[in-house]
Amino acid sequence: MADHYSDLDQHDQWTLTMFLYRSALSKIKTKIRILTDEFTNIQRNNPIEHVNSRIKSPQSIVNKMHRQHLEVTIENMTEYINDIAGVRIVCSFTPDIYRIAGMLAGQQDIKVLTTKDYIKHPKPNGYRSYHMIISVPVYLSECCRDVKVEIQIRTVAMDFWASLEHKINYKFAGHAPEHMTNQLKSCADIVAELDNRMFTLNESILNARPGPAGPVEYANEQQDPDDDQDMFSS
Ligand code: GTP
Ligand code: MG
Repeated sequence: MADHYSDLDQHDQWTLTMFLYRSALSKIKTKIRILTDEFTNIQRNNPIEHVNSRIKSPQSIVNKMHRQHLEVTIENMTEYINDIAGVRIVCSFTPDIYRIAGMLAGQQDIKVLTTKDYIKHPKPNGYRSYHMIISVPVYLSECCRDVKVEIQIRTVAMDFWASLEHKINYKFAGHAPEHMTNQLKSCADIVAELDNRMFTLNESILNARPGPAGPVEYANEQQDPDDDQDMFSS
């Protein structure tokens, strides 16, 4: 689409494109931070355990385009590579995932482009998470661009599993021995069961009457919403 920056040379186009992805990521992180602040300070129950974000490195972008047999151009990159800006939200219980996804999808300036529900439909290896590709408008001095961000939402247990699976696949370059992939699949089943049981147990805790002495007050139980380093480390 022609706009104020259509005539930039390749170098400046690249600089602008990566700047747009950083800006889009920072908008999404701010939105998540506002939700976290609200959960913590107003609702006094924050389902978000932690948030990570990253911008894909130029080398990984080029490698991915090669894998997809795409000519390496900025147009192809913005059109076909959806995870250049990525955020991962890790929360406590499975229903929190859908709540948070719904809250983000319901924001007026967020356009949901695609969703993948690997919780209702886990991958054959056992991978579970909820994925959204969204776009947000980034306003510049003379124009506005819609920029894509990948959002992954999962529980702590799903995240634990995905980290180990990633480590194993990285180590064996995607060809892990069968006994390991079998173990991983079996762990994924245990993780799903654990998520269900932890959720049910938490519901029982919430619905139970406190003991005769009343609930114990824990000081500063929630995450510090001002601790940027802790919450948005990438
Ligand atoms: P890419 O995997 O990024 O090429 O995208 P895709 O089009 O296959 O999208 P999908 O939504 O399936 O996966 C996007 C991202 O989710 C990946 O880049 C990973 O970060 C994560 N992911 C997907 N599948 C797995 C998996 O089997 N194991 C782990 N550990 N992470 C996964
Ligand atoms: Mg990816």
